[in-house]
Amino acid sequence: MGTRWMLDNLRPGMRLNATGPSGTFSYVNVPARKYLFISAGSGITPMMSMTTQLYDEGRDPDIVFVNCAKRPSEIVFRDRMEHMASRTTGIELTWVVERTDRYHPWTGFRGMMNQLILGLVAPDYLEREVFCCGPEPFMQAVREALYGLGYDMDRYHQESFQAPLPDRSDVPDDVTLDDAEMAEVEFAVTGTTVKIAQTETLLSAARDAGALIPSGCTFGVCGTCKVKKTAGEVHMVHNGGITDEDTEAGYILACCSNPIGKVTIEA
Ligand code: FES
Repeated sequence: MGTRWMLDNLRPGMRLNATGPSGTFSYVNVPARKYLFISAGSGITPMMSMTTQLYDEGRDPDIVFVNCAKRPSEIVFRDRMEHMASRTTGIELTWVVERTDRYHPWTGFRGMMNQLILGLVAPDYLEREVFCCGPEPFMQAVREALYGLGYDMDRYHQESFQAPLPDRSDVPDDVTLDDAEMAEVEFAVTGTTVKIAQTETLLSAARDAGALIPSGCTFGVCGTCKVKKTAGEVHMVHNGGITDEDTEAGYILACCSNPIGKVTIEA
């Protein structure tokens, strides 16, 4: 929400009081021989920082680093992580994506994080100190997977980048999206129109169309990708990143909205 607020309110020349990074989510507080850093979306940020520090200190780290993203093109810090991993044997990288980018072969994991993937990427997970960061549903899945595998949860550490989730049990989710169904998205400001599968998000469509929609978490949490829809229907399942007032005013979150039929966006 902070990112969205800054985009809406900050103007050139404003003065801000800022404080440095703080918090206790750091391997420094729990020294261990082996780590498992597991994250989703922009939850990769503290994992990248911790890995960079261990790498820069010239130690011989033993890190299994797992990041989950919607698709390969949305992996944050991918080049930087691969650069570090290519220079030491102590950083084992794994990417897990929900779906692939069209016309780009993908040989990594595909699907949602689960016990099977966990066991494959870190067979010695019982020996590792685990750090986890991502949207609450993701962290809940990781917690449940570890707990179910008999992991000592005292060695599990997590960082949440969102307020507690609102109760969304009242939101009907009876729409089944179809890969074969195409939708048409018009970006009114950019003046481009793209055809994409219904299962693609409007954020993906914007990237294909060269339209600028800022994004952050890509999981419907931070509100950065809020944009006005001026025509058509979308199917949106977010994680608290938009208010009811905004949705009533016609705004949507591009990262978690799928177009139904023909849609026009103010971007
Ligand atoms: S990028 Fe965070 S809500 Fe869409």
